[in-house]
Amino acid sequence: MPNIENPTSRTLADLGVTQADQLSSLFTEVRSRFDAEISRAHDEPAWNITKVMWLGRKSGVLAQITDNWLRPASPELKRAVGAGLNELRAQVESQIEARRQAIESGSDEAALAHDRIDLSLPGVARPIGSHHLIRQVFQEIEDIFFSIGFSVVEGPEIETPYYNFEALNIPEFHPVRDDMDTFYLDLPKNAPTPLLLRTHTSPMQIRTMEKRQPPVRVIVPGKVYRRDNPDATHSFIFHQVEGLAVDNDITFCDFTGTIEYFVKQFFGPGVKTRFRPSYFPFTEPSVEFDVSCIFCGGSGTAAGGGTCSKCKGAGWIELFGAGMVDPAVYGFVNYDAKRVSGFAFGMGIDRLAMLKYGIDDIQVFFQNDVRFLRQFS
Ligand code: PHE
Repeated sequence: MPNIENPTSRTLADLGVTQADQLSSLFTEVRSRFDAEISRAHDEPAWNITKVMWLGRKSGVLAQITDNWLRPASPELKRAVGAGLNELRAQVESQIEARRQAIESGSDEAALAHDRIDLSLPGVARPIGSHHLIRQVFQEIEDIFFSIGFSVVEGPEIETPYYNFEALNIPEFHPVRDDMDTFYLDLPKNAPTPLLLRTHTSPMQIRTMEKRQPPVRVIVPGKVYRRDNPDATHSFIFHQVEGLAVDNDITFCDFTGTIEYFVKQFFGPGVKTRFRPSYFPFTEPSVEFDVSCIFCGGSGTAAGGGTCSKCKGAGWIELFGAGMVDPAVYGFVNYDAKRVSGFAFGMGIDRLAMLKYGIDDIQVFFQNDVRFLRQFS
C-alpha cells in the first residue's frame, strides 16, 4: 500500500502529477518537512539521524526522490524534477553543514535554551502550602500549654466503647450517650468488640492514665466525630483539645487559674472568664467556661448600638466544658482516688478559631477553598 503520508515513496504518476507547474508545491512540502526536522536537531546524535534520514545513500529522502520521482518521470517532467531536486539538495546540504557548525561551536540558540540554565530568568513560582487555620490554632494552644508544663499526646480516632464511654463513667444506657449520636463501624458479627469514631478526645484521659503515674499534665489535640447534621455551627467532624492534669495536690483553684491563664493568652488580657455549673459523668464538679464577649467587650451592645449579635446581648460566650476528674474515673485506671486529684477540660477548636478569627460558618474549615485558606497563610 502506498504511503500516503510520505509522497517521496510514491511516483509522480501515482501522485497525479503530470505537469511541471504541479511540482513546486510538492517540493515546498518536502522542504518544510526538512526545515522542521533540522531545527529540532540540537546535538550531534540528533543531527546525525537527520543527516542520514535526508542524505542517506539508499533510503534517504533525496535518494527516494531520485528513485521514485526522477527516474520514472516522463521526458517532459524530467528536467523540472531534476532542477527541483538539485535545488533541494543544495539547501539540505548547506543547512546540515550550518547546523553541524552551530552545534560544534555551541552557538546554536535553540540548543542553548534547551541544555543550559539561564540564571537571569525569573524562577518558576511553586506555591508553597501553609498550615490550615485549625492546625495553626492547635499550635497556638499547644504553645500556651507548653509554657505551663503540659505535653502533647495523641490517640486513635477509632475507639472502643470502653474508652469512649465506660471508663469515663458513662455506662451503656446512660442518657448522655444520646448527646453523642455516634458513628459505629460496620464490623463482622463475630468482631471481639464494637468500634466507633471517637465522639470526644476524652478517651485519651484514660489511655494516658493507664500508661503514666501522676503527675500527669497532658493536652490531646485531635479530630472527633458525631452524627450531627451540618449547619453553620455543626459538623460531623470537628476538632478538640483535651486537657488533663492529675497530681497529689491539685485543687479547684489550680483548675480555674489554669483555664483563666489559657483564655487570656489565647484571646488577650482584656477578656474575663466565668464558669457555671454543668454536668459530665467523668468530672465532679463539672463546669462550663464562658469568656466575656470578644466582639462587644462584654457589654452586650453592638458597636453601632443595638444588641450584640454574637453573644445575643448576654455579654458572655460559652467556651467549653471542664471539671475536676470524677473519683470514679480513677477506679478504671488504678489510681488511688484518695491520694490524687485533678482537672480535665475539652475545648472545641473550630469554635475557638471561629471566635478568634471572626468566622461565622464552621463548614469553611472542611471545604478547603483556597480563597478562604489563603487568608490565614
Ligand atoms: N468531652 C466533653 C465533650 O466533648 C468535654 C469535657 C472534657 C468535659 C473534659 C469535661 C472534661 O463535650
